[in-house]
Amino acid sequence: MDLVVFLGLCLSCLLLLSLWKRRSRKGKLPPGPTPLPIIGNILQLDVKNISKSLSKLSKLYGPVFTVYLGLKPTVVLHGYEAVKEALIDLGEEFSGRGSVPLLERSNKGYGLVFSSGKRWKEIRRFSLMTLRNFGMGKRSIEECVQQEAHCLVEELRKTNASPCDPIFILGCAPCNVICSIIFQNHFDYTDQNLLSLLKLMNENVNILNSPWVQVCNIFPVFMDYFPGIQNKYLKNSDNIKSYLLEKIKEHQESLDINNPRDFIDHFLIKVKQEKHNLHSEFTIENLLYTASDLFAAGIHTTATTLRYGLLLLIKHPEVTAKVQEEIDRVIGRHRSPCMQDRSHMPYMDAVVHEIQRYIDLVPTNLPHAVTRDVKFRNYLIPKGTTILTSLTSVLHDDKEFPNPGVFDPGHFLDESGNFKKSDYFMAFSAGKRMCVGEGLARMELFLFLTIILQKFTLKSVVEPKDINITPATSGLTSLPPSYQICFIPV
Ligand code: HEM
Ligand SMILES: *[C@@H]1O[C@H](CO)[C@@H](O)[C@H](O)[C@H]1NC(C)=O
Repeated sequence: MDLVVFLGLCLSCLLLLSLWKRRSRKGKLPPGPTPLPIIGNILQLDVKNISKSLSKLSKLYGPVFTVYLGLKPTVVLHGYEAVKEALIDLGEEFSGRGSVPLLERSNKGYGLVFSSGKRWKEIRRFSLMTLRNFGMGKRSIEECVQQEAHCLVEELRKTNASPCDPIFILGCAPCNVICSIIFQNHFDYTDQNLLSLLKLMNENVNILNSPWVQVCNIFPVFMDYFPGIQNKYLKNSDNIKSYLLEKIKEHQESLDINNPRDFIDHFLIKVKQEKHNLHSEFTIENLLYTASDLFAAGIHTTATTLRYGLLLLIKHPEVTAKVQEEIDRVIGRHRSPCMQDRSHMPYMDAVVHEIQRYIDLVPTNLPHAVTRDVKFRNYLIPKGTTILTSLTSVLHDDKEFPNPGVFDPGHFLDESGNFKKSDYFMAFSAGKRMCVGEGLARMELFLFLTIILQKFTLKSVVEPKDINITPATSGLTSLPPSYQICFIPV
């Protein structure tokens, strides 16, 4: 008994001490649950559903609060107002990238997603421009996606209308799009290169979504005690990088500066132009990491949205019927869909937005960091503090989207059936760090889903009412449960 009392006293002293130190040092961080020494607020966080834990805490502490991930204070922004105020109104200050320890160990600050400062600015500007004007004179990004849409349809035909898990085929299409943008290669869906790239990436996505990584984000030392998973992740990303490095070397040998073929060529031209600048960010190393970032950010995201989207469409046959009626009316059965069609297809546009809103692919966004000491709503957030923005709280706001937990394209339609934009649509985040691939992703989602619904009738193997649409896991991204579907040619 005495020992227990003694230990209790010690613990309380430590607690008071840590609280006191926090108050005096950082004075004005937003309020939040009292952290325990060393472990911080881990007990208040469900590592299987961080976004849900943050929503609960916001009910107690308001839209701006601090949680301690281990020893590290992290400011959480919950709800449209706070997220918009930070990411848009104070865009520059909130444009830093917060740390994800596992990714830090593999990316080392190179490339685009995990860089900051001058490097991030220059590479981001270059990437946005190149993705926008890609193939000037030759093939546009749209043609690239359209071509892949036809391959996708051919692959789906080969399933002979029998039940299949679409995970593989729906992964190939976005992978091929990224490959053709980066190194102008398009793979057959049975190509060994494509299969092994997809396998490596899938394994890493699963690692990133595991509770293990959420724990490591809080206690980085954990990674060193259980190095197996970390090493697997690093080995996979090294394999992807060595494949890309091979492609870069081939490109260096065959580069024609007057005739850039793809992203790598455009980057190599910048490398040449800046070769006398010692501080240039256009180096082979940054090219390698940027290309691997586009792989990591651009494939799984689009593939998961397509796969979750089709699940929602078989769950809601009435929505699917309305989309197909619109496709028949605007495009017909034979012409290939193009981006111009979208402006005449408000219902389809609303369906794609609603899929993205409903599935809430990246619930707590990628972590940001403040680039200097920032005054925010009477609090003072010290330079370098990690910022988590709850995209769930914006996408599932119940005033903007009544019944946010229900899949309803009406969330993006006005009374006369016109498409209705919403500032709350932050599936791609907002502000200066907003997704670089937004334009490309929206093109893929529209063209792939439209052509699938134009060429096939979707059939579920179970009754719609028995289809489960709750996410299987939500770590860094939400994943749909696995399911079977039939693609019946029309
Ligand atoms: C449905 C598909 C997609 C969704 C939902 C999505 C969502 C996101 C989100 C939430 C972020 C974090 C933004 C932030 O930090 O505030 C992000 C960043 C990023 N995305 Fe996407 N994305 C998608 C597709 C793509 C594609 C196709 C590409 C490739 C071209 C891509 C490339 C990137 C890059 C490079 C970043 C990092 C930007 C930076 O740090 O400055 N994404 N995306
Ligand atoms: C996380 O919590 C939210 C809110 O309760 C819920 O809708 C979602 O399905 C949960 N995700 C997982 C993977 O359990």
